[in-house]
Amino acid sequence: MKTCLSIKVAAFAAAFFILIGINSEAQTKSSDAKMDAFVSGLMSKMTIDEKIGQLNLVVSGPALTGSTVNTGVAEKLKKGEIGGIFGVYGTNFIGKAQDIAMKQSRLHIPLKFGLDVIHGHRTIFPIPLGMSATWDMGLIQRSARVAATEATGEGINWVFSPMVDIARDPRWGRISEGNGEDPWLGSQIAKAMVKGYQNGDMTKSDAVMACVKHFALYGGAEAGREYNTVDMSLIKMYQDYLPPYKAAVDAGAGSFMSSFNTINGVPATANHWLLTDLLRKQWGFKGFVVSDYTAVNELSNHGLGDLQTVSALALKAGLDMDMVGEGFLATLKKSLKEGKVTQAEIDLACRRVLEAKYKLGLFADPYKSINPDVEKKAELTDENRKFAREVAEHSFVLLKNKGQILPLKKSGTIALIGPLADNHSEMLGTWVIAGDPKKSVSVIDGIKNVVGSNANILYARGSNITDDSLLNARAWFFGMRQERDKRPAQEMIDEAVATAQKADVVVAVVGESANMSGESASRSDINIPETQRTLLKALAKTGKPIVMVLFNGRPLTLPWEDEHMDAILDVWAPGTEAGNAIADVLFGNYNPSGKITATFPRSVGQVPIYYAHKNTGRPFDDKGAAKFKSDYIDIANSPLYPFGYGLSYTTFSYGDVKLSKTRLKGDETLTATVMVTNTGKYAGEETVQLYISDPVASISRSVEELKDFKKITLQPGEQKEVSFRITTADLKFYNANLKYDWEPGEFIVRIGTNSSDTHSAALQWKK
Ligand code: BGC
Repeated sequence: MKTCLSIKVAAFAAAFFILIGINSEAQTKSSDAKMDAFVSGLMSKMTIDEKIGQLNLVVSGPALTGSTVNTGVAEKLKKGEIGGIFGVYGTNFIGKAQDIAMKQSRLHIPLKFGLDVIHGHRTIFPIPLGMSATWDMGLIQRSARVAATEATGEGINWVFSPMVDIARDPRWGRISEGNGEDPWLGSQIAKAMVKGYQNGDMTKSDAVMACVKHFALYGGAEAGREYNTVDMSLIKMYQDYLPPYKAAVDAGAGSFMSSFNTINGVPATANHWLLTDLLRKQWGFKGFVVSDYTAVNELSNHGLGDLQTVSALALKAGLDMDMVGEGFLATLKKSLKEGKVTQAEIDLACRRVLEAKYKLGLFADPYKSINPDVEKKAELTDENRKFAREVAEHSFVLLKNKGQILPLKKSGTIALIGPLADNHSEMLGTWVIAGDPKKSVSVIDGIKNVVGSNANILYARGSNITDDSLLNARAWFFGMRQERDKRPAQEMIDEAVATAQKADVVVAVVGESANMSGESASRSDINIPETQRTLLKALAKTGKPIVMVLFNGRPLTLPWEDEHMDAILDVWAPGTEAGNAIADVLFGNYNPSGKITATFPRSVGQVPIYYAHKNTGRPFDDKGAAKFKSDYIDIANSPLYPFGYGLSYTTFSYGDVKLSKTRLKGDETLTATVMVTNTGKYAGEETVQLYISDPVASISRSVEELKDFKKITLQPGEQKEVSFRITTADLKFYNANLKYDWEPGEFIVRIGTNSSDTHSAALQWKK
């Protein structure tokens, strides 16, 4: 019935566009000239109100991330006052909204439908920070493809992802949504995600347009406090924070979202330098830019003026679409009359929004991904679940494994303890809209699935996630309630200790809940919540070996756990297949291979902390107490776990770094080689990392920078030679004049298992 209707409306749309001189078939084989002609033809028929309407993006359904929601959506749709809707999914609602736009508005312009599809749609993958720990671009790209296929099945054609903000401060809750601290790795991931979503041709029915966010530098928020001011040097911006956004442009991303923060004193949403000079003129971005949630209105809070003033500023800066706040809708016509914006500025923004719809093939078929028959298949499939399990396994990072306690034997008695051990609601992590927590696999179920009746599994909850009333109230502000156990804390601990005493080994499943990271979830204390640490202390006193399974949306401070737990497996928030994937790794069906992409500090006082820091004029070498050095008097400079770190059940040894040349000139290239040997008992995967240092230059350079990596699999005793080709592109940096070039001199090539454990060799390179 619905399909028939869709076909009729699609035919009607096609007839309409033939009527205005456009052949829908030619449109799908779009060339820029054809698109220009099409959009110009359409715009010549639009009133000023209809043009401004295209710039209006409204949220429907529950307010997601702000206190404002749009009203009167159906009426506005009829009047052509809406260009897109986000926050809803499902062909029923989306089909109806598209019907109104296509049948009841004057020009029948199709709507875009956006959603925060961040790490999966129905099938939920690990949170992005976890996904980045796979260092596997194939898996990452495929996860975006699966998400796009599921989301298009429910009418979505635009996703607010990838988030590519570099973050070096784990207090910031949104570090969970990004790919960590490194610009080079972040760039590879940005490209993989855009390709996975857009699938090479956005007119395909299973492709969505990516929306790269948050442009720009959002992760540099002062003090890690959400939505806070960002103030950084241009060199740092260009060298460390901007590359992933640029990589996404190069990969063909269709849209960008401006960020909430200021850049050089001007909020991103009204920043002409950012949205026009950098993004469009320097980088050649051809898509459109949408604001973040009510970010245009919030320009008033930043102190830029009233709604009319800030709306005009944002449009003039290069912002094309206004999310939720309707400042454009309410004021741009008035501003045009008063000469505060020009017709050309409104036309340009409208053109970009229409072009996006054209690139998605929506003019050819406004219903291309609104098909209830396809929607039925958008459910979690066995194939997608299997893939989610594989991705989750690859994302886990083994932080400690004393005495090779892991993998566990599938026998004996195992005490499974902790507030996250028998839990479904916290498995999926932050930013999950369509994923159903009830369909996720709990840790206890996963362990039972994997060990069957071979081992005796005992369970005790041990504690709630937190007993801190403020944290509790803030973290569980929206949505699902924490599944609290009403018993007194001591009673739960006593039960857990008694359970541990009956077992051969304790598996403690602890850490952060999903909503302790993500948007509006900055923390000043990044320990495991106190209640859970008290539980761990009581368990440690039993003397039983303890394997800690850690859930976290950010690097946490774990010095106590590192000292007292026998093993620590970091599982982030693993997604739908959480329990199965965790059990696979605990019991050795999969040998962990993840490597952290954000440094774990020893103490929150060390943040921001990242491997690619500068040397300073008074470097500290961590070789004992010293005076007048760049250090702390109460803690080492080094992190607890450095960038790129992660253990395996096997061990790898690295040989010396061999260079094919040590004296080079101009555009010559060289090969750096290292022999890696599996010296342990298990087959395993290793991520071999290449860093380069540039010790003498015209500006102070980072001590080292990641330039490449290779993933290899080795059987016990097996050796492999791993080679990297190095070119002058690997030596380039932004100098004091922001010129991107390399300077002659000495370079040090470092290859190793993480950023602070490498073998090195030096070379000279002349211009
Ligand atoms: C977030 C964005 C998100 C948007 C729409 C905002 O508050 O910062 O990341 O895409 O809401 O939900």
